[in-house]
Amino acid sequence: MTDYNTNWHLDTQLIHEDRSARSRYQTGTPTVQPIHASTTYIHESCEALDQAFSGKTPDGDAAFVYARQGNPNAQTLEDALARAERGVGAITFGSGMAAINAALITAGLTSGTKILASKDLYGPSIGLLQAHYIPNGVEVILKDLCVPEVGAIIREEQPDVVYLETISNPLVKIADLDAISAAAQEVGAITVIDSTFATPYLIRPLEHGFDLVVHSTTKYISGHGDSTGGAVISSKNSLMGNLRTNANLLGAMLSPFEAHLTMRGLRTLALRMERHCSNANQVAAFLSEHPAVECVHFPSLASHPQHELAKRLISQGRYGGLLSFELKEQNQEAVYRFMNRLQLCLPATSLGDVFSLVSYPPMSSHRTLSDKERRNLGINPGCIRLSVGIEHIDDILNDLDQALRG
Ligand SMILES: Cc1ncc(COP(=O)(O)O)c(C=O)c1O
Repeated sequence: MTDYNTNWHLDTQLIHEDRSARSRYQTGTPTVQPIHASTTYIHESCEALDQAFSGKTPDGDAAFVYARQGNPNAQTLEDALARAERGVGAITFGSGMAAINAALITAGLTSGTKILASKDLYGPSIGLLQAHYIPNGVEVILKDLCVPEVGAIIREEQPDVVYLETISNPLVKIADLDAISAAAQEVGAITVIDSTFATPYLIRPLEHGFDLVVHSTTKYISGHGDSTGGAVISSKNSLMGNLRTNANLLGAMLSPFEAHLTMRGLRTLALRMERHCSNANQVAAFLSEHPAVECVHFPSLASHPQHELAKRLISQGRYGGLLSFELKEQNQEAVYRFMNRLQLCLPATSLGDVFSLVSYPPMSSHRTLSDKERRNLGINPGCIRLSVGIEHIDDILNDLDQALRG
């Protein structure tokens, strides 16, 4: 039986990743990798244990000594994500935030270095830079990196690290990955991109010249709202050693249980993304015609500033599953009234789950900002974020309609 075929399409690959991790037992070989809960590993001899501390057997296979340094379930997920993102390797973490921190440290953020980061980053990512990097001497420049002149901004700022998100939250702005990586290479900056909203099914930033791609696997990759995790995938072997060391020292490893759940989710990523995307396209079209809605932020719409760029980066009419819209009544009371009336869509934070999730940025992702700061980012008081799930489209539309009419 074939172990693994690298010519398979991504959809097929993700379903059959366990093949390369199968343990063979006389009683039969499990088709799904068992959960390896062991924290420590014995080897045939001290010589073999000594070798295993390097992380590899003499044949080049993964070798385990202690779960914080790596475990078979996390390894299977790491191999799958590295292949999916077309990277040379990946490390998984206990959360997306842990992955971001490890990626930034690996990119070289120490005292005296300069990072050019997107002002639209996920709130806690900016919080991390402000609470831990700036006090330690890192210069942080926050700019809108989803503008046509982004290449000129990078050449002018001459940063050591560029850090952004493929698709921004909550206004769903798209970054011109090719222009950014080209300019970053010119000035010698390492590029780090959080691609949580896009997933490797829609965009693979390493193929556009990025160095490190980060995911909160809590979202689409896991996809069922039942496991928290993160991952960093590298395009360069030279960054992998540091990344592994940093992961080990930071101690924020993904547990075998969460790795198992994330692998289970990953198998249906392609199927789920197709449905998320087609549902989101229909929801965006519906909301943009709704009398209670002021405007919709989603790149499927010709009115979206990066509609053409999105069409170039993400093929075949897919634009992701996350959108935001603004109520005509631009105030918190109207938003709460709408959210309290929802019967199917869940008024809860997070995104990328099979069920539709509605959140209010001033209450969740942009909670720590003032009203003025949010308005400066383009987030008005009537702005609502919707992570479109994979339920039947008619049920989603009916629920939104009845809540909007309330
Ligand atoms: C774009 C993005 N990156 C990172 C994170 C952090 O991920 P986690 O909650 O798994 O730490 C989030 C969480 O919502 C996110 O939306």
